[in-house]
Amino acid sequence: MRQVVILINLKTYREGLGQNAHRIARAAEEVASESGALIGICPQLVDLHPLARHFEIPVYAQHVDGVPPGAATGHVTADALKLAGAKGSLINHSERRLTLAEIEASVRVCEQNGLTSVVCTNNVMTSAGAAALSPSFVAIEPPELIGSGISVAKADPGIIRNSVEAIRKVNTGVKILTGAGIQSGDCVRIAIELGTDGVLLASSVVKADDPGAVLRDLVSQL
Ligand code: G3P
Repeated sequence: MRQVVILINLKTYREGLGQNAHRIARAAEEVASESGALIGICPQLVDLHPLARHFEIPVYAQHVDGVPPGAATGHVTADALKLAGAKGSLINHSERRLTLAEIEASVRVCEQNGLTSVVCTNNVMTSAGAAALSPSFVAIEPPELIGSGISVAKADPGIIRNSVEAIRKVNTGVKILTGAGIQSGDCVRIAIELGTDGVLLASSVVKADDPGAVLRDLVSQL
């Protein structure tokens, strides 16, 4: 059986910054070890190194630039992420869109540095396009449901089903995540039933009073 993946994007929420990021990572580490799920965390860049040092769970960046080390001021390089302890990076998140050429370059620098690449997409066509670049993961997130509290798994399962079908036509090996409005064990179960490997989520965990309780609910139907 494949290991279910739960990726928590802390975005730029205050509730996911500094000590709050540590609190969420601690809860994620506990629930990962209780459940056997792979639970990863995507903090802001400034928190990445301390989190990677303190916790066993994989830490991912929210963005990586497809540039080599050198004269590129203000960029995030894959080798810097690697050195800081990151296991991978989100690419082309809906709140950090890139051009197709930039997505490709970001995927390649992840590959060259042994990092997991998670390319976010917004619909069936872009999911197929992202899959053609052979990232580690394609994460399908309809933007209108992001942060809405309405789960894509329940409100629009068709987009996930059709994306999985379109992705598999171009790439049989890439892993797939379901994202937007994910909040409960039901959502995770449906995401798996639709043929994806897990979920990418943010607000339901980051903004919760008790992130551990939400995470335990998320893995409750595995
Ligand atoms: O990266 C995850 C994200 O865009 C989904 O956000 O708050 O709907 O879980 P949310």
